[in-house]
Amino acid sequence: MTAIVPPTVDVHLSGSDLRAAMERDVRRGLGQDPKSLPPVYFYDDRGSRLFDEITRLDEYYPTRMERSILDAHAGDMAQQSKADTLVELGAGTCEKSRTLLDAMTDAGLLERFVPLDVSETTLWSAATALARDYPGLAVNAVVGDFHLHLDALPAGGRRLIAFLGGTVGNLDQGERRRFFGALSATMGPEDRLLIGTDLVKDEARLVAAYDDAGGVTAEFNRNVLHVLNRELGADFAPDRFEHVARWNEDARRMEMWLRADSEQRVRISDLDLEVGYSRGEEMLTEISTKFTTAGLECELDGHGFDVETMWKSDGNEFALTLARPHFR
Ligand code: SAH
Ligand code: AVI
Repeated sequence: MTAIVPPTVDVHLSGSDLRAAMERDVRRGLGQDPKSLPPVYFYDDRGSRLFDEITRLDEYYPTRMERSILDAHAGDMAQQSKADTLVELGAGTCEKSRTLLDAMTDAGLLERFVPLDVSETTLWSAATALARDYPGLAVNAVVGDFHLHLDALPAGGRRLIAFLGGTVGNLDQGERRRFFGALSATMGPEDRLLIGTDLVKDEARLVAAYDDAGGVTAEFNRNVLHVLNRELGADFAPDRFEHVARWNEDARRMEMWLRADSEQRVRISDLDLEVGYSRGEEMLTEISTKFTTAGLECELDGHGFDVETMWKSDGNEFALTLARPHFR
């Protein structure tokens, strides 16, 4: 019987780093017009649970679509990449990773799994469960920010670097350019990127996915206000902000906003800051870019990657793309 290898968790983002980043981001975002907040602050324990609930909603198709591609093609992904190490960025609960880990086990290659996420609690419980369920597998989790800590990913072996769920769509163009640049700089010629992207589709289907009838996404959106209240001593009244989900045709992205239902002032004690909202004022909390397959290929090429294979779900709703860094 193969022994269970205890997981390691390497922390590159301490509580004080997170706090300093939050203070800087909130001061900057609330000083802009329109006001905005980065999506990374949705994901405290409650936000991670709400996101998990979103992935099971009828309206939220991306998780089901991506899973259907993984179920059908994880074996091809393992064979083509010949990877012995699976790295996953923004891994969350690592549920989808299991399909890839199983396929890599079947290919007889799997040695190591490296999930990276900002949420230390989620990573610890996922890493512990995976180490138990995959005896012999080295699980080396990294608590870090994929905007800042890609160079902290352990090198060595032949790596398949997965960025699933369409999370890359939550980055704007400039962030994507910097992200792909930093990522390709850490990759060897044998490493492969596996990237999940949601595709442009009918507006009504998109809007429903981000404004579900049960109001789970609305709670997820407002959760960022609960986080700021707790972490920065703010006094946002979350129920005085309405959830807005809107398709931006020009930028080809879904946007989530929080709209003030009346004029209000919010105090953020720890920043010694007071912020005013006019009635109906909207604050941007998330973008979720949707791609065309041609646009994605072109963007990857421009950022230093050649597409090897692109798998699409039924109805061309979602794509998983295996890409390699340009030969240097
Ligand atoms: N990959 C999973 C989870 C997607 S939810 C899936 O496909 O279902 C997005 C995940 O990215 C969350 O777990 C969140 O904590 C993490 N995340 C968001 N911003 C991040 C950042 N800047 N750096 C690292 N992880 C981040
Ligand atoms: C994590 N990310 C890909 C999700 C998305 O669809 O953009 C986050 C989300 N926002 C609202 N619902 C889900």
